[in-house]
Amino acid sequence: MKHETLKPFPRDFLWGAASAAYQVEGAWDQDGRGPSIWDEFVRIPGKTFKGTNGDVAVDHYNRFREDVALMSEMGLKTYRFSISWSRVFPDGTGEPNEAGFRFYDELIDALKAEGIEPIVTLYHWDLPLALQNRYGGWESRQIIEDFHAYSLALFKRYGDRVKYWVTLNEQNIFIKFGYKTALHPPGVQDDKRMYQANHHANLANAKVISDFHAIVPNGKIGPSFAYAPAYPASANPADVLAYENAEEYQSHWWLDVYMDGVYPQATWNHLAARGLTPEIEEGDFELLAKGRPDFIGVNYYRTETYEANPLDGVGEQGTFNTTGVKGTMESTGVPGRFRTVRNPHLEATNWDWEIDPTGLRIGLRRLVNRYRLPVLISENGLGEFDKLEGDSIDDSYRIVYLEAHIKAIQEAITDGVDVIGYCVWSFTDLLSWLNGYQKRYGFVYVDRDEDDVKELKRLKKDSFYWYQQVIEQNGIYPSPDAVR
Ligand code: BG6
Repeated sequence: MKHETLKPFPRDFLWGAASAAYQVEGAWDQDGRGPSIWDEFVRIPGKTFKGTNGDVAVDHYNRFREDVALMSEMGLKTYRFSISWSRVFPDGTGEPNEAGFRFYDELIDALKAEGIEPIVTLYHWDLPLALQNRYGGWESRQIIEDFHAYSLALFKRYGDRVKYWVTLNEQNIFIKFGYKTALHPPGVQDDKRMYQANHHANLANAKVISDFHAIVPNGKIGPSFAYAPAYPASANPADVLAYENAEEYQSHWWLDVYMDGVYPQATWNHLAARGLTPEIEEGDFELLAKGRPDFIGVNYYRTETYEANPLDGVGEQGTFNTTGVKGTMESTGVPGRFRTVRNPHLEATNWDWEIDPTGLRIGLRRLVNRYRLPVLISENGLGEFDKLEGDSIDDSYRIVYLEAHIKAIQEAITDGVDVIGYCVWSFTDLLSWLNGYQKRYGFVYVDRDEDDVKELKRLKKDSFYWYQQVIEQNGIYPSPDAVR
């Protein structure tokens, strides 16, 4: 659908950028912080690119004032960051660490002083190691109570200043990578355990959401989902069915639970036939039904294209490109249901993520038609090799990427989608979990690499100045080609 004119972005649109504690903070053992599962995982040889870790990351913990000053200079309306659970509760439960709580007080106050709306993520993958060791983390129902207690402590402490909260960041990724492909901690490969851990995460999410508004009456809360909308490889009905299978298995398996408290049937049946469905206890579905969020948080990077996969076809363990060597990502799938294929209509990044702004518009429309909620785009961005030349960084490819996605959002808004904000991943460069420091996302270059922390100098990329202008004029409108 082509629009003759595009609706402007809403006046209070939240133009933002995002990060996560482990990827930026560093200070891994400073001021009483306890270890998380990532602190342990990155020390296992061969797990991350060149053995990189977040011990120092970009030292945001000690340099947050400099970073907030840059956000203010850019004119950012919102900044999404996560709280490190083991910084505020070093053992996961029990004794709080006041120094950790104070750090987030200071960060929130510094943002508010600059008129920047904080969006706080409760959980961005860094589970306290103590809880993993005590009872197996997400595999125990005890996590539901402990995540609830931790979250309520944050609501009580910061709820007077923080309106927007994200519960779990990309449950679909941390569960699949944690328990299927073993690319993330705890490095398990066991589908039965995976679906059980996933069910506990669903319950934990719902329990926190169901108690949120009593503590933060004017607040808004929702999970952030890694949504890669599915496409069929062709109009062959076998491929269209594969795409339907994939959309349900890869996305609705989580989203239907978040929004409606139910698991989608075909995937449930597929798992039941293999003895993989989670154990359900009395009251579970009642709790899930109470967890309807205020918005759908969407992390969008790419679409995925699917074709039919025979019963003896490829499985889910193909090579995942963590090196930036283009073409090394392998096809994966579920035998009898679907497999991924390259989309010949799309260019891909050096990490083989296909670039598809229209896919964002398509995804937004699908989500809103199915769930009827506003959307917060909690992540979108381009991870690439950036080159520092003198004191400048020409990342025009990132500008092209972001501009196309912002146009797609404006088209979706014109279609009728209620989008409340857009958080570009990321504000500063940061640790890209498995990909080291060479896969850069930021508007602000941080001068460090895998081998040398250097002085962690902050330098504005060309995209910094470009986004500053986008924010100032509330979109790319009225640039000549934004209105067709
Ligand atoms: C999302 C995560 O999956 O994508 C971020 O929420 C992550 O934490 C981002 O950094 C980009 O992924 P990657 O693997 O390129 O760092």
